Amino acid sequence: VPKNVDLKAEILRMKKEKNAVILAHYYVDGEIQDLADFVGDSLGLAQAAEQTTADMIVFCGVHFMGETAKILNPNKKVVIPDFNAGCSLADSAPKEDFAAFKAQHPEAVVVSYINCTADIKAMTDIICTSSNALKVVESIPADRQIIFAPDANLGRFVAKKTGRDLILWDGACIVHIDISREKLAKLRAEHPNALLVAHPECKEDILMEADYVGSTTGLLAYVQTSPNKEFIVATEAGIMHKMKLANPDKLIIPAPANEQNFCACSECPYMKMNTVEKLYNCMYYEMPEIHVPEETRVKALKAVKAMLEISK
Ligand code: 13P
Ligand code: SF4
Repeated sequence: VPKNVDLKAEILRMKKEKNAVILAHYYVDGEIQDLADFVGDSLGLAQAAEQTTADMIVFCGVHFMGETAKILNPNKKVVIPDFNAGCSLADSAPKEDFAAFKAQHPEAVVVSYINCTADIKAMTDIICTSSNALKVVESIPADRQIIFAPDANLGRFVAKKTGRDLILWDGACIVHIDISREKLAKLRAEHPNALLVAHPECKEDILMEADYVGSTTGLLAYVQTSPNKEFIVATEAGIMHKMKLANPDKLIIPAPANEQNFCACSECPYMKMNTVEKLYNCMYYEMPEIHVPEETRVKALKAVKAMLEISK
């Protein structure tokens, strides 16, 4: 990174010069969200990636999100600030293990949460996100078996809501499962008027007591439209940035994580690998770039398109 350079101004300049679009997830740092052209949940980001006319997509999120953008845009350059920004859900489902699991249920329709690698997407019939998982599962005929991967907590939530018997892959988000039920109970006792809103990657016991469960966009909309003035938010802390900006009159408290956590509140270590410096570098050097082998991409695209079609 060059010295004495206004990185943010340079990022905005390069965006114009290179006809680039910056897409960012709600979990990245606020200062990166503020530089982005679009900030959203996984579905919104996939839709934005599908619709963009930019020559280069700069994805501030995690690796699988960049892959999804590349799957949709084989002829565009897709870069991400840090190639090591992974995801515990995507890591939980190695290609060979998932293929063996799938082979045990040859009749099943495969629904995969978008938080998975391109290889898993290529073995999937239809992708879902936390905002359309119920709709996707409900679209499958009642007499069909369904494999749901890789997030078992989201899977259990969807199974309960739809009454469908899902064959679950046992993956989890390290951030959401680390929210402490004990500390949350204490916090709720201190704020008896606060509503609890939670992301469906949380454990079942937290989801059971939540007043609202939804994707990041869903949580933002709920807090904004609710007449209530206090909220406890059980998801990654990055969401606080837009939530607080949009609701200056409301008390918004992040749900606490366990003591042995890598940080005091619920922060995703992968999302936090995105920094303004790395964003500058990836736009300047146009790397690291995401590549998806064409055979995998074409198969994965079918599953992603099936989801986008249902979510119009
Ligand atoms: P959504 O933004 O789609 O709710 O996903 C949350 C998440 O964990 C992304 O990694
Ligand atoms: Fe993956 Fe969880 Fe981080 Fe989202 S918050 S990228 S699901 S580890």
